Amino acid sequence: MEGIFFKFTPTFLLYIVSVNLNENGFYAYCKSICFIYTANMEPIYSLLLGAGNRGTHVYAEFARQNPSMLKIAAVAEPNTARREKIRDEHRIPTEFIFTTWEEAFERLPPQLDAVMIATQDKMHLEPIMAAMERKLHILCEKPIVPSLAECRAIERASAGYDKVFMIAHVLKYTAFFSKIQELLQSGKIGKLIGIDLIEHVGHIHHSHSFVRGNWRNSAESSPMILAKSCHDMDILYWLAGSPCESLSSNGGLYYFKKENAPADAPKRCLEGCPNMIECPYYAPKIYLCANIGWPVNVITTDLSMEGRLAALETGAYGRCVFHCDNDVVDHQTVSMRFANGVMANFTMSAFSAEIHRSIKLFGTAGEICGDMEENTIQLKEFTTGNTELIEPGKTAGGHSGGDRHLITDFACMVRDGSGSQNPIGKGRNMIRNSFESHYMAFAAEQSRLEGARTIWLAEFKRNAGTESDGAASM
Ligand SMILES: NC(=O)c1ccc[n+]([C@@H]2O[C@H](COP(=O)([O-])OP(=O)(O)OC[C@H]3O[C@@H](n4cnc5c(N)ncnc54)[C@H](O)[C@@H]3O)[C@@H](O)[C@H]2O)c1
Repeated sequence: MEGIFFKFTPTFLLYIVSVNLNENGFYAYCKSICFIYTANMEPIYSLLLGAGNRGTHVYAEFARQNPSMLKIAAVAEPNTARREKIRDEHRIPTEFIFTTWEEAFERLPPQLDAVMIATQDKMHLEPIMAAMERKLHILCEKPIVPSLAECRAIERASAGYDKVFMIAHVLKYTAFFSKIQELLQSGKIGKLIGIDLIEHVGHIHHSHSFVRGNWRNSAESSPMILAKSCHDMDILYWLAGSPCESLSSNGGLYYFKKENAPADAPKRCLEGCPNMIECPYYAPKIYLCANIGWPVNVITTDLSMEGRLAALETGAYGRCVFHCDNDVVDHQTVSMRFANGVMANFTMSAFSAEIHRSIKLFGTAGEICGDMEENTIQLKEFTTGNTELIEPGKTAGGHSGGDRHLITDFACMVRDGSGSQNPIGKGRNMIRNSFESHYMAFAAEQSRLEGARTIWLAEFKRNAGTESDGAASM
């Protein structure tokens, strides 16, 4: 059976729902949210801090495609080409174009609802504090801040903050993880006992971001478990439905380091590397190809062949992956126990062909098995023996649609305080729900550095002076 149904809700949501019967006789249910029609909505006016990858390609692009929801009213960005691109595309008056976030807070536009913080990890704390002082709604990139002390400072300062303050934990806004949460809530697999989550970072992605790129060095940005996997800590906390009680972690930097460099490898790929054929990380293979989207658009704003070649000759992305100043791990595991007894294992690895996440949830009455990038979930129920294949239906855009749903939720929350117009979310990423993932990540890093010592989260938080009991979103 195949069909397409259109549904208009009172809040002007248009869904396309298709139902297919697969060859095994099971219903594959697929609901695609085609677009969110918000003709009855005034856009929120936002200041964009940082017009780099996330600022330009996620937030500003969303505003360009959804002018009824979000207006970039001002931008702060030191890079001239990036700043001018935003100025031109969003027709921002000259008086609201700034080179730094500090300058922007001195001359805010009069009609301003929100600030979107898309600067690097170490440059979140001060803009957050400045935005709270001015009583603005805030959407801040993850990680909130890179250190435990700063996280605690934000937790204190934001307690009772009466504006919308959300963190970009985009995975909770994917149809994939929302569906898994819905299945858990439905009780179909009985009581949840354990979760196995694997983050396959992808070897090229890892080399780009965590060996050559912005998040390669924990002192300059943050440890991998925070920079990349605070998303996964957040998902595990959310699905487990309880704060983390204890954890231990193993891991290290095993491969991308000098001792593994071929003897004849120069410091830069373009300095005549003799290993160019067999090395998957040979920079021209990754950056001088037909693709000019991510990750290529990160290395320079001049995407001509000449521009990219120049970036590889002198910039960070032309370095041999065995001769960088990276120190973040390339493989890490975390073993967790939550206060309600749920156990979880998490693996993050650079050593995968593809970029994807896979998850298995073990329940007393069944199991759930999912692959986020394949966008498939298998539900196996013990009593009936049935297997149901579910394809949750992706929304276009980054992070399997998570980016779009997050920003939509933010705009709706700012406008009506409930997010009621948004099919996924409804304020699920408010900052009070985001501290636990960060404390889990800080504790995991400490455990790893101390030879997988078991860390008790209550004690860890007490020693850090945090009042968080991790129960905010439960
Ligand atoms: N939610 C996610 O899944 C996700 C994915 C990738 C990155 N991130 C996070 O998003 C943030 C931004 O990442 P990115 O990849 O866009 O980085 P980026 O380096 O591409 O962008 C940061 C921008 O901030 C600008 N900047 C520097 N100093 C500034 C100042 N004083 N005032 C204003 N702007 C300034 C830089 O010039 C740069 O353009 C980081 O915290 C990162 O960890 C989140």
